Amino acid sequence: MCGIVGYVGTKKAYPILINGLTALEYRGYDSAGIASMEENKICVMKDKGRVSNLNSIPGLTDLTGTIGIAHTRWATHGKPSKENSHPHMDNSETFAVVHNGIIENYNDLRKFLTDNGYKFLSQTDTEVIPNLIHYYFSKESGDNKFLSAVQKATADLKGSFAIEVLSSLYPNQMIVVRKDSPLVIGKGKEGYHIASDIPALLEYTRDFYLLDDYEYTVIENNSISFYDKNLNEHSKEIKNIEWAATAAEKNGYDDYMLKEIYEQPTAIRETIGSRLKLGEPCDFSDIEISKDYLSTINKIYIVACGTAMHAGLTGKKFIENLCKIPVEVDIASEFRYRNPIVDSKTLCIFISQSGETADTIAALKLCRENGAKTLAVSNVIGSSITREADYTIYTHAGPEIAVASTKAYTSQVVLLGILAVYFAEILGSQSQEAIENIKKDILELPQKVETSLKSADEVKAFAKQIYGEKDMFFIGRGSDYNVALEGSLKLKEISYIHSEAYASGELKHGPIALIEKDITVISILTDENLVEKSISNIQEVITRGAKTFIITNLDLSNAHFENVIHIEKTNPLLSPILSVIPLQLLSYYISKEKGLDVDKPRNLAKSVTVE
Ligand code: M6R
Repeated sequence: MCGIVGYVGTKKAYPILINGLTALEYRGYDSAGIASMEENKICVMKDKGRVSNLNSIPGLTDLTGTIGIAHTRWATHGKPSKENSHPHMDNSETFAVVHNGIIENYNDLRKFLTDNGYKFLSQTDTEVIPNLIHYYFSKESGDNKFLSAVQKATADLKGSFAIEVLSSLYPNQMIVVRKDSPLVIGKGKEGYHIASDIPALLEYTRDFYLLDDYEYTVIENNSISFYDKNLNEHSKEIKNIEWAATAAEKNGYDDYMLKEIYEQPTAIRETIGSRLKLGEPCDFSDIEISKDYLSTINKIYIVACGTAMHAGLTGKKFIENLCKIPVEVDIASEFRYRNPIVDSKTLCIFISQSGETADTIAALKLCRENGAKTLAVSNVIGSSITREADYTIYTHAGPEIAVASTKAYTSQVVLLGILAVYFAEILGSQSQEAIENIKKDILELPQKVETSLKSADEVKAFAKQIYGEKDMFFIGRGSDYNVALEGSLKLKEISYIHSEAYASGELKHGPIALIEKDITVISILTDENLVEKSISNIQEVITRGAKTFIITNLDLSNAHFENVIHIEKTNPLLSPILSVIPLQLLSYYISKEKGLDVDKPRNLAKSVTVE
């Protein structure tokens, strides 16, 4: 969604701001803008369209200020336009604000401010913020007027926000604050850098302040001060984030997505890390779930959105098979509104690559309020979800920049697999031999993923044949059906081709009516126990004229299918990690054939921080 960048330091702000906005482009946006403090005047430059458009705004290169704020907007309230772009200023042009999130009570605040003589130039919810700050500022006296006005204004806001505020009356200061929307501050060599997420700042620093909700932060020259909700000052620990400075770069690949697909062996290796070794119990010493607690659990929920939810579907299979605890998987936006039966005997697992997905965080809070323990699976250290959960375990996939999730998905599946083995060890629900066997299979995954990646040329050739199509189907049974869902999502988001995923056994219950000559049906077939049934399903669609593309680890030579991609054999529970790779590549190559922007698909955002 929207992206925020800010800088307070000794260098010219505008190039740093534009650089930061460019690094945040992957989040998805439709307009961009910056404000630079020029002497005692705030200079705003903004427009709809790409960040690069800012470079052609007259006067940009004349800016010399060393404090500035910047924003990429993903339209919610009001269409993409110059007026609706951020930064927004109050009527007197004393305060400038950039904002991520949604102000739910903006209509009431707008009415209040209009009644008090304020005028609005945009249709955004954000514009109430600088005017509200002005309103309180005009009523304040004392030393801390600016901070106090920001505190009073934000106390009136309902909803979510991460904001940066400049005031022409305080030309050396920037105030930032967040609630339910991400914001981090990096301490660089030449000043403080602010952004909505860490990858945008890796070029400058790896030392970060991770702000809590309503933690008011004043950055001035070379100093930073933190205040709580009541404006009592406190000190704050700085965190070192281990991601390499080059981790958020393309490193020679055409697109981040392709780079991230090829990073999967490393991401999985890093995620396994020292958690899993042969002959030793799994190491989850960071969460220490006790046998007493786990034995009381009679149900596990796995809640997430999109691809993370698909990882959860495979997680369910791991936990039910290895631990014999029933697991329900739900979409966060459904779960939170369906009065789920959650109590202290329920363990609730939330999966989120970004750790900032609004619905997933809201679902977590709901479970906590109902007395359940919550466990977050995230890829981003210190992200909001990790600060809300009772327990957090991290995937170590490195920053994922492409909107289409690839390495985060396979790392999530692997981590859920290791977690299930850990639970099985605690509960004693599997023999030692079975535990050792699955550990061996998990440890072999990085090398087997390398083999799946070798299918790239064959996949590319098939992509060339089918990229012009309008509809496709993905089918599979059991774990293969979960992979079909993920393959279909990937195709939709980056190639804009409509597709549906079905459990193969469901075809005859309706969807087979849509199968006609030359329609593409992509089948995943990795479970030996279901091979005959799955082959029959494929033959049924071929009989009706379908063109098939099959991903399998089985010998299907007797069936004489065309377009068969072979992957390695593994424990059937783990096969989604290998079979998803050709599907990721297929979406990628189809998108490239269509000449689309793979990393920044239309209408989508990398982290969905609003409902
Ligand atoms: O950051 P999260 O894992 O919470 O994101 C969840 C979904 O928004 C995300 O997986 C989305 O479906 C991806 N674009 C899929 O590629």
